[in-house]
Amino acid sequence: MRGISATFRDAVVMHPTAEAIDVERARLQHAAYVHALRSAGLVVEIMPPLDAHPDACFVEDCALVAGAHALVTRPGALSRRGETESVAERIVDLLGDTGRVERTYAPATIDGGDCLRVGKTWFVGRSARTNDEGVRRVREFFGALGFAVVEVPVEGFLHLKCVASRIDDGAVLLAEGTVDPAHFGNLEVVTVPRDEAYAANAVVVQGTAIIAKGFPRVRAALEQRGLRIIELALSEIAKADGSLTCLSIVLG
Ligand code: GLY
Repeated sequence: MRGISATFRDAVVMHPTAEAIDVERARLQHAAYVHALRSAGLVVEIMPPLDAHPDACFVEDCALVAGAHALVTRPGALSRRGETESVAERIVDLLGDTGRVERTYAPATIDGGDCLRVGKTWFVGRSARTNDEGVRRVREFFGALGFAVVEVPVEGFLHLKCVASRIDDGAVLLAEGTVDPAHFGNLEVVTVPRDEAYAANAVVVQGTAIIAKGFPRVRAALEQRGLRIIELALSEIAKADGSLTCLSIVLG
């Protein structure tokens, strides 16, 4: 993870609202997420903020990691291109000699928020941020490692993971009316009702589902699957077009 920049209120947003981001409150919400991940049994490392990059807390966009393999991205937003190198260096350190870490070069662009891994498949959103060359780069890198890569058209929202996330290797959460569930093939698709779409972005780790606060039907659907639930307030993260998965890269 990475701390929230002092400049966070200048984060890139698709539909700016009149209400400014409260950076201090964003930091408290970020800290609660760190605590939730630790309580789920994860070791959490937090890189220092990058004030030159308002969106830098959204580390998910900087690298795709599967086991010992990592593809460093080239984000679609120009203002975010300087975020990747420090993440890449840290991942190289963490993966050590066993790891294989490669970069992405122009003209490809990839945002990690478009890349959803479920088992041995990467679902890659073809979006305003992730272009055709980016999808090809994911296919080239991870295809050689035995992963399937499925392209999913993303229109009208920022990233694929704004509307879909992994529950386990057999199931995904998917916001109703966003992308065609058929893209997920044989996976079980748990539909999130439109008025709870924000909660389609959830982090499920080690039997714990971390979800946005205030979405009772998503909570109930995950509880029914035997998951322990942690709800987090995310108002300031959401104002920056962010959600839970954006704020971390889960290694392993
Ligand atoms: N604010 C998140 C992004 O636009 O990448």
